[in-house]
Amino acid sequence: MIDVNAEIGKLDWSREPQGLYEPIGYTLAAGGKRVRPQLALLATKLFGGNEEDVLPAALALEVFHNFTLLHDDVMDKAQVRRGRPTVHVKWNENTAILSGDQMMIEAYKLLSRVPEKKLAKTLRLFNQMATEICEGQQYDVDFESREDVTIPEYMEMIRLKTSVLLATALQIGAYIAGATKEQQEAVYGYGIHVGLAFQIQDDLLDCYGDEATFGKAIGGDIAENKKTYLWLVAAQQGAAAELAMRNETKAQRFERVMAIYNRLGVKNAALEEIKSQTAQALDCLTSLPQNEYTDQLRALARKLEERSK
Ligand code: IPE
Ligand code: IPE
Ligand code: MG
Ligand code: MG
Ligand code: MG
Repeated sequence: MIDVNAEIGKLDWSREPQGLYEPIGYTLAAGGKRVRPQLALLATKLFGGNEEDVLPAALALEVFHNFTLLHDDVMDKAQVRRGRPTVHVKWNENTAILSGDQMMIEAYKLLSRVPEKKLAKTLRLFNQMATEICEGQQYDVDFESREDVTIPEYMEMIRLKTSVLLATALQIGAYIAGATKEQQEAVYGYGIHVGLAFQIQDDLLDCYGDEATFGKAIGGDIAENKKTYLWLVAAQQGAAAELAMRNETKAQRFERVMAIYNRLGVKNAALEEIKSQTAQALDCLTSLPQNEYTDQLRALARKLEERSK
C-alpha cells in the first residue's frame, strides 16, 4: 500500500510568503494518525481499484482535515495539538485563519487531479462533506450555550463534524474503484459508525486521556462547556445544573466536573456506546466482498476503539 506519510512529506511548502506556507508545513509535518487517507486507499483496494487513482483524493482529504483543525483550534481555544503549540498560539489567529483557508484551497488543488471521468462526482461528494462539517461545527458551538441538548442532537452534531469526513473518504475510494451504489453506501455507513465511535472516544480522551500520548491538552471540552457524550449522560442523570459554568478557575471547574462524571460513572456509558457503534460499523461490512481489505477495515475499527491518541 502507498505510504501516506511519505506522500504528504513530498508536498512542498517552502514557498513565499513564508508567513502563509510555513504554518501549513508545520501542521502537516506534526504527524497525526492519517486515518482518512488510509480509509480512502483501503476502500479502493477492497473493490480492486488502483491506489494511484485515489491518491490525489486521499491527500486532499488529509489536507482538508488538517485545515479544519487550524480553524477548530481557534474556535475551541486549544493550545496544543499533536504535542505541539497550535498554529494560533505559535503564530496568531490571523495566521490560523489564512493558512487554514489556503490549506482548503490546496486540498481542492489536490482533488482536481483525480481521473477526469471520476472528477465530477468526487467533487460533489467532497463538497457535500465539507458543508456538513461546517454545519456540525456550528452546532458544536451553538451547543456550548445550551444546557438542554439531547443525545440524538449530539449524535447528529458529531455525525456532521466528524463522521462524514471518514465516511466520504471511504465512499470516494469505493466510487473511484468502480463500486456499485449499494457498496458505496455500505462503506459510507461503516465510516459513519466508526466516526461516531471515534468522536465519543475523543470526548473521553479529552477528560481521561494522557496529555503526552493524546497530544492535546486534557480538559479543553470541560473548559469550553462543550456538550460531549459524557456531559449528556451526566445531564440525563439530572446533573445539568451542577455542570453549568460557575465563577471558578479552569482547574477548579475541571476537578469539580470530573468528580461529577466519576460519581455518575459516565465513562462506562461512553465505553458502551463506543462498543455499540463499532459493532454497527462492522455490520455494515457483511454485504461486501470479503478479502484482506475488509479484514483491515475491521482491524482498524477495533484499533480505533482502543486508541489513546
Ligand atoms: C481530530 O482528528 C479531530 C476529531 C475528529 C476528533 P484525529 O484524531 O484524526 O487527529 P489526527 O489527524 O490524528 O491528529
Ligand atoms: C472535531 O472536534 C471536529 C473537527 C475538528 C471538525 P473536536 O474539537 O473535538 O476535535 P479536537 O479534539 O480539537 O481534535
Ligand atoms: Mg477542538
Ligand atoms: Mg471543536
Ligand atoms: Mg475533541
